[in-house]
Amino acid sequence: MKRNDLEPTRLSSGGWRLLLENVRLATARLELRPPTLDDAQAIFSGYAQDREVTRYLVWRPHSNLEETRMFLQSCLDGWASGSELTWAITLAGSGDLIGMVASGPCGHKADLGYVLARPYWGNGYMTEAVSAVIEWLFSVPEVYRVWAVCDTANLASARVMEKVGMTREGLLKRWNVHPNVSSEPRDCYVYARVR
Ligand SMILES: CC(C)(COP(=O)(O)OP(=O)(O)OC[C@H]1O[C@@H](n2cnc3c(N)ncnc32)[C@H](O)[C@@H]1OP(=O)(O)O)[C@@H](O)C(=O)NCCC(=O)NCCS
Repeated sequence: MKRNDLEPTRLSSGGWRLLLENVRLATARLELRPPTLDDAQAIFSGYAQDREVTRYLVWRPHSNLEETRMFLQSCLDGWASGSELTWAITLAGSGDLIGMVASGPCGHKADLGYVLARPYWGNGYMTEAVSAVIEWLFSVPEVYRVWAVCDTANLASARVMEKVGMTREGLLKRWNVHPNVSSEPRDCYVYARVR
């Protein structure tokens, strides 16, 4: 990704600009980096076509590689415009891509979404990745609230949010359509961490 691709339009404040110069995040076991189009195969074969992984997500499993490439192009566009900041989660050492975390900044708030390939579930990886992104977001002076929702049946996701210090604020009735479960809007929990 060229440096100019990271110039924000929505994120025009000094805090965001400084932060966007350093978007690679390292944790004990992981490296988070902006994705590239070359990640398409790893994402497609790793989790994007997995019905179990996508069960409680707002998108349907990808049926071909081109669909994944189009998604990745939207990730690049999101970084360029500042509307959606998406990180590929990779294993430190091997560099293998195992999932993604995304955040949509909006004024003093930023939301979160995340997904991990099934073989890596249950090892604390997403807790580690989301913690790093929250810390990164809160290093922007303008950000006071990081929030996310999950289907009330998505217990693993709810637990991740608890483990990263988010608080369940309430139940949003009929909040999201999760098309792999039902075409009807589903109830979701809303979690947030504020400072
Ligand atoms: C949700 C998801 C990201 C969790 O990733 P992960 O790396 O396995 O998460 P962690 O290991 O950090 O933590 C998972 C926690 O949920 C718990 N958990 C997992 N399945 C559970 C279940 N069915 N019921 C209750 N708790 C469950 C784990 O025990 C663990 O908690 P613990 O450390 O207290 O034991 C992963 O399951 C995933 O990608 N799911 C599909 C996509 C998705 O749903 N994304 C979120 C959309 S809101």
